[in-house]
Amino acid sequence: MTSAETASCPVHQNFDPLEETYLADPYPTMSAVRAEVPVFYSPEVDMWVVTRYGDIESVFKDPGSYSASIGQRPVFPLTDEAREIVRGGFHATPVMSDCDPPRHTRIRKHNMKGFSARRTAVLEPKVWAKATELVDAIEPGRVDLVSAVTYPLPAYMIFTFIGFPDADMDMLKRWCGNRMLFSWGRPSPEEQKDIAGNMVRYWRYCEEFVADRAKNPRDDFTSDLVRIHRDDPEAVSLEEIVNVAYGLSFAGHETTTNYTSNIIRRLLTHRSQWEDVCADRELVTDAIEEGLRYDSSIIAWRRITTRPVTLGGVDIPEGGKIMLLLGAANRDPEVFHAPESFDIHRDDSRSHLAFGKGIHFCLGAALARMEARIVLELLAERAPGMTLVEEQEYTFPANISFRGPRRLLVDWPAAT
Ligand code: HEM
Repeated sequence: MTSAETASCPVHQNFDPLEETYLADPYPTMSAVRAEVPVFYSPEVDMWVVTRYGDIESVFKDPGSYSASIGQRPVFPLTDEAREIVRGGFHATPVMSDCDPPRHTRIRKHNMKGFSARRTAVLEPKVWAKATELVDAIEPGRVDLVSAVTYPLPAYMIFTFIGFPDADMDMLKRWCGNRMLFSWGRPSPEEQKDIAGNMVRYWRYCEEFVADRAKNPRDDFTSDLVRIHRDDPEAVSLEEIVNVAYGLSFAGHETTTNYTSNIIRRLLTHRSQWEDVCADRELVTDAIEEGLRYDSSIIAWRRITTRPVTLGGVDIPEGGKIMLLLGAANRDPEVFHAPESFDIHRDDSRSHLAFGKGIHFCLGAALARMEARIVLELLAERAPGMTLVEEQEYTFPANISFRGPRRLLVDWPAAT
């Protein structure tokens, strides 16, 4: 018996967020279901899918009824073998995105210090320097902007911020790709086995890293947390710091790599808007917000009910798993004028829910916006004439939440 049979609610048999056409372009499906069955149960993912802006906002604003604890759990059941491997050496516990109050409130308070406007501003010259180095290295001709810029920049920034050595970047990125598939995708039993092994390695890496910083604190965010722990062990434990390093080392780059690739793609597709940005850099921030509304990098996020609720007129039992289709909310015609049009000149983009809302509002929003802004400013200055390679095929990692093209090919002009 599916969980939905315990309540009366529309059931959508054909909704599969891992199906090829949905991965290639989820927006037609999102807009169809939002109009026809705004809240429905999907047996494929065993979740209640919520599509309207107002319903999603009400979930974000009610953490007492909608727990975040499900946020990092595998969507699909793991094999016994994978579960056994994970149990043997992977001990992550909730600290941020999958944590509820009061623990979440205490831990987030200390993390906020690291992401304050002042701390983020201090990072700006470093983002400029790294982004300039990457853009300067591009040769005229055909180039993949993901591997050249949007992949290395956020990874370098967040790993340096945490304190991870630069040399470990590719290994960490690989493990993060594994983690995405493990928790938000549908890996085969064979893949699960390999990934489970890497999750254990990734976890040990974080443990050893924090143990080292506990002995030899340096000038990085992890060491700041270690100092807070030393002053008051009740404030944040070393085990919680391991979890924070593990969490940030994922949240801080996949999201921004994908987002920056998405906005570059949309601007180049809407050529006249790219030309507007090149002519007036003040428009970059508007472009960033419209990109977050129209084509963000987290298209779905999860919650689980702590009590029976009625959402959008549908009864959901306690323990009901909820999939919030942020991509659908951000194109809801109840909130956005002409929502299916990409338009950097619109005045309602900023209402998007791309970073969530309420107590879990994205901690890295300012950093993500800053990195994307700097990349766009640099590209507009150095290569206003670059063009998107029209015949390219975009592919996307198969998972329910994180969306961005694996490659983004452009023709980079010769310097004038
Ligand atoms: C464009 C890029 C990004 C997008 C679209 C994005 C989106 C989100 C979303 C939707 C949430 C969940 C909100 C909720 O559950 O209510 C979230 C939470 C979070 N994000 Fe981001 N994010 C981005 C970049 C970043 C970066 C760069 C970092 C770190 C440097 C980061 C760190 C976090 C953390 C730690 C949380 C959990 C906060 C909490 O539970 O209190 N994110 N983000």
